[in-house]
Amino acid sequence: MIKKTITVLSLSIFSLTLSAQQKENTYTGPKINTSEMDQKVNALLDKMTIEEKIGQLNLLTPGGGVATGAVVSDNVQQKIKDGKVGGLFGVSGPEKIRIAQEYAVNDTRLGIPLLIGSDVIHGYKTTFPIPLASASSWDMELLKKTAQVAAKEATADGINWNFSPMVDISRDPRWGRVAEGAGEDAYLGSQIARAMVEGYQGNDLTLTNTMLATVKHFALYGAPEAGRDYNTVDMSRVKMFNQYLPPYKAAVDAGVASVMSSFNDVDGVPATGNKWLLTDLLRKRWGFKGFVVSDYTSVNEMIAHGMGDLQDVSALALKAGLDMDMVGEGFVSTLKKSLEEGKVTEEEITTAARRILEAKYKLGLFEDPYKYLDKKRVKKDILTKEHRALARKAAARSFVLLKKDQNVLPIDKKAKIALIGPLGNNQSNMPGTWAPTGDFKNAIPVLEGLKNVAPKASITYAKGANITNDEQMAKNVNVFGPKVEISKESPEELLEQALKVAKDADVIVAAVGEASEMSGEASSKTDLLIPESQKKLIRELAKTGKRMVLVLMSGRPLNISEEAQLPIDILQVWHSGVEAGNAIGDVIFGDYNPSGKLTASWPRNVGQVPVYYSMKTTGRPGTKEGFEKFKSKYLDVDNSPLFPFGYGLSYTEFEYGDTTLSSKEMNMDGSITVSTTIKNTGDYDGEEVVQLYIHDKVRSITPPQKQLIGFQKINLKKGESTTVEFKITAEDLKFYNSSLEFVAEPGEFEVGIAPSSDFKFSNSFTLN
Ligand code: BGC
Repeated sequence: MIKKTITVLSLSIFSLTLSAQQKENTYTGPKINTSEMDQKVNALLDKMTIEEKIGQLNLLTPGGGVATGAVVSDNVQQKIKDGKVGGLFGVSGPEKIRIAQEYAVNDTRLGIPLLIGSDVIHGYKTTFPIPLASASSWDMELLKKTAQVAAKEATADGINWNFSPMVDISRDPRWGRVAEGAGEDAYLGSQIARAMVEGYQGNDLTLTNTMLATVKHFALYGAPEAGRDYNTVDMSRVKMFNQYLPPYKAAVDAGVASVMSSFNDVDGVPATGNKWLLTDLLRKRWGFKGFVVSDYTSVNEMIAHGMGDLQDVSALALKAGLDMDMVGEGFVSTLKKSLEEGKVTEEEITTAARRILEAKYKLGLFEDPYKYLDKKRVKKDILTKEHRALARKAAARSFVLLKKDQNVLPIDKKAKIALIGPLGNNQSNMPGTWAPTGDFKNAIPVLEGLKNVAPKASITYAKGANITNDEQMAKNVNVFGPKVEISKESPEELLEQALKVAKDADVIVAAVGEASEMSGEASSKTDLLIPESQKKLIRELAKTGKRMVLVLMSGRPLNISEEAQLPIDILQVWHSGVEAGNAIGDVIFGDYNPSGKLTASWPRNVGQVPVYYSMKTTGRPGTKEGFEKFKSKYLDVDNSPLFPFGYGLSYTEFEYGDTTLSSKEMNMDGSITVSTTIKNTGDYDGEEVVQLYIHDKVRSITPPQKQLIGFQKINLKKGESTTVEFKITAEDLKFYNSSLEFVAEPGEFEVGIAPSSDFKFSNSFTLN
């Protein structure tokens, strides 16, 4: 009787939280006084020479950050003084930035301050998990908070413009930059884009702890042929509108201040010189009001793309709608000539300069060019205890429990543990790729984290194997410093030490996987296996018959078909940032029950790629399990991925009831409520990501077999149950038809609430 009352009570509490969580993010950007901005910017433009206007379009890096192309800029100081620079990146710290800002303010005729950019991709000094990991939390408030903290720390170090969020949808784990995005789904990617833009920009850009955000890489950069970075992209308009463009649009709708054009081509024209993309779509159709910056030398790279010489490609980019030229100096060196030769107009140059000046106005730089240069903030606002606590929380929430049939986890805090693996006592790989503003020396290794969380456990460590034995691979991934260190001991010796340590333990924790720079920019791979050196170690450890958990690190979905067959548990921890070790301890010892769910499918093998949950049925779908001749299937493996989108286990169990509907019919201007009950039937309290999918059964262009249109993250104590409700309107059912109109078409829709994308629909309604 008492139990029943508790359940009822919790029910009402939960329905309250849920309706709050379900609220769509309606953020549309910081407030801006546009008439005052126009006045200020017009007055400046009136005074500017053509050279000064072109100077504003030039973005340089004196080096110091990560150079991701062949060049860094020279003579930066003189160029600033000559009024030939609109912004810098790759510089940090109030003192250095003050010097640069003073050149711009004191030594140029009009004293226009500089934009100061940086790649603050997953945290500034407090490095959070890589974006693919953070996305797995499905927790928009948490993501927003990490972006706020990143902005607070970066602005404390003098930076006012962030080259983030990266929202490129990718369904190709070969592509190294899959680590930097939110995965394969446009709906989830859009929610994350909004949360990040809101976190960075806030409601008031004139504050000193908010900064301009940049959505990148516009567009379709995550779909290169063969998963090779910078490679050609070619896709139909309906595919791009429905599956790849929504997150960029969501960032624009959220008032993102700038857009970065991508390296790839779109419809045969490089994005950086693509007028359809940068003007017709971005500005005319979506109403973007900020400025567009190129990617690193992507203007110049149009020469190699085959679009002409530097003067041609610079003119092409400006005319297409590009406002700022990153590093390549094509604008600053050729636009005046192009103007004289009638290849570009003065109006085009003025328009671009206007957009850069507007960004500076929005930040309040004309009022105070030194507003981000308060030295006291460096100590006060960077890498604080609170920020580290948030990083620990974010990391634990990004982990995905892939396999638990042996119930090894959580481990008793007094257990005898053999921690084995090349990533078990390593700092340099913890932050993950694209963390140039952080310092890996601040990262907590797994061994230290386990000891912190369970001081009474007996933990012995052995490396067991090198991350890879392949010297060339080690060299390729060590470009930013040693991530892979090949031991002097032979592989046999390493293994022997590991087996010795394992022998005395109750449980083996194997910390294995990829080095952080095995994913990231220019880090594509054709092989998705755990490196063979470690596969061998895992096999040998499994043979001991000891209870064992893989703590698996990577910046991409891997092919772990072999390891998934072993009688072990598997916890995917990605590269989870500065608090990696502590967060791993929290989860391994049960202080936090894992709740992450994959946002990108894990393939059975690389030949399945791309494999994603929203594939179309084709005209020849399978009708049963296993191979069927003349059906769209493989001879050797099933069509399904090894682990699907939305998948992730918990220490507890959640039982889903049937999906029920408030009505079987819905009008175009009406709505229906879809609901289910969920019960925590296991032994632990836990969080669950509840997902809502539809299938539009008949429509004018072939539909995906499943499409995510909503999700909620709930918290249920053990034994507790709740009802989860989603409201659906016609807006949620819309797609881009072959005329690229955003429409909902009448007809039958299957609908289901599920713990992952792998389920069968059992209910439907009709849209009239
Ligand atoms: C990357 C961008 C980055 C830029 C500046 C490029 O190579 O593609 O994502 O913002 O470098 O560092």
